[in-house]
Amino acid sequence: MTTGTHRTITVDLEDRSYDVTIGPGVRHLLPEAVARTGARRVVVVSARPPEWVPDPGVPSLFVPARDGEHDKTLATVERLCSRFAEFGLTRSDAVVSVGGGTTTDSVGLAAALFHRGVPVVHLPTSLLAQVDASVGGKTAVNLPEGKNLVGTYWQPSAVLCDTDYLSTLPERELIGGYGEIARCFFIGAGDLRGLPLHEQIAASVARKAQIVALDERDTGHRHLLNYGHTLGHALERATDFALSHGESVAIGTVFAGRLAGALGRIPASRVAEHLDVVRHFGLPTALPSEVDVDGLVALMALDKKATHGLTFVLDGPGGAELVPDVPRHVVAETLTAMDRAPRTSPTGERADHA
Ligand code: GLY
Repeated sequence: MTTGTHRTITVDLEDRSYDVTIGPGVRHLLPEAVARTGARRVVVVSARPPEWVPDPGVPSLFVPARDGEHDKTLATVERLCSRFAEFGLTRSDAVVSVGGGTTTDSVGLAAALFHRGVPVVHLPTSLLAQVDASVGGKTAVNLPEGKNLVGTYWQPSAVLCDTDYLSTLPERELIGGYGEIARCFFIGAGDLRGLPLHEQIAASVARKAQIVALDERDTGHRHLLNYGHTLGHALERATDFALSHGESVAIGTVFAGRLAGALGRIPASRVAEHLDVVRHFGLPTALPSEVDVDGLVALMALDKKATHGLTFVLDGPGGAELVPDVPRHVVAETLTAMDRAPRTSPTGERADHA
């Protein structure tokens, strides 16, 4: 639905359906979103200062949080649940998250676990969280052994993507968010280049909503959303998150095009299109100099999709699909042939991830 500059997209999951509303100022729709949950009180967990947090319309506790992979831990979830308990949050109250994807992920998991599940409303503040992390119900935290290893599916009651938040982002973080928008080109969202930003967000969310409605629990079709992510996740780990999630997915998308080309699945022109689309958004396209090919291949072998050898979502004559058992030497040769960029400097505390 379109109202002025607001777009509303429904994630259609029967009794767990909800709306994602996108546009300037939509954070002020929070009281209506909270009222729909029936909550009499809420805990608002925010990685943004109080002045950026709208009035939820019911008595609330404000809990400050911090975006960043290093805080996306079980310890954070435990701390949040303790705050919910101290406040006396009941099963019929609700939680609100305000922050980037790392915050919506940890708060979503805390909401899923507290009293075995309380409603959560997400107000994603980074581009990455607006186009991907806050939509679709995946919640998770990291372990020292790997990313997103502990989590669950817990659909939010509403998502309010206020584009005013994006004006507060450091440039590198904003550009990183385009990594998830760029990969949409190859998973059926069409060419989003040239559209106003709120339209790009809406189109990305609409494509994600279609995919999630078909495969909420990631048993098949939802793998498409992992386009560019197999190398992307490996790069995040290999650089200890100095490369952000969006930057890593961007490089992973260029690599996915090259790998599909090396396997004869797409012509050279389509391989080149991967580079063009990622470049268009000002995203990195080369491997950072500090990562080594064998280390990346080892990390990719740990990917959750890799149940039958090295596995990637790759473009092909019928569109993108899951391709298992990709020969190791083809993967290594494709990585070796990629351009190299200078050593990566860290993105800092506001690093984001979905
Ligand atoms: N970010 C990938 C997914 O939601 O499935």
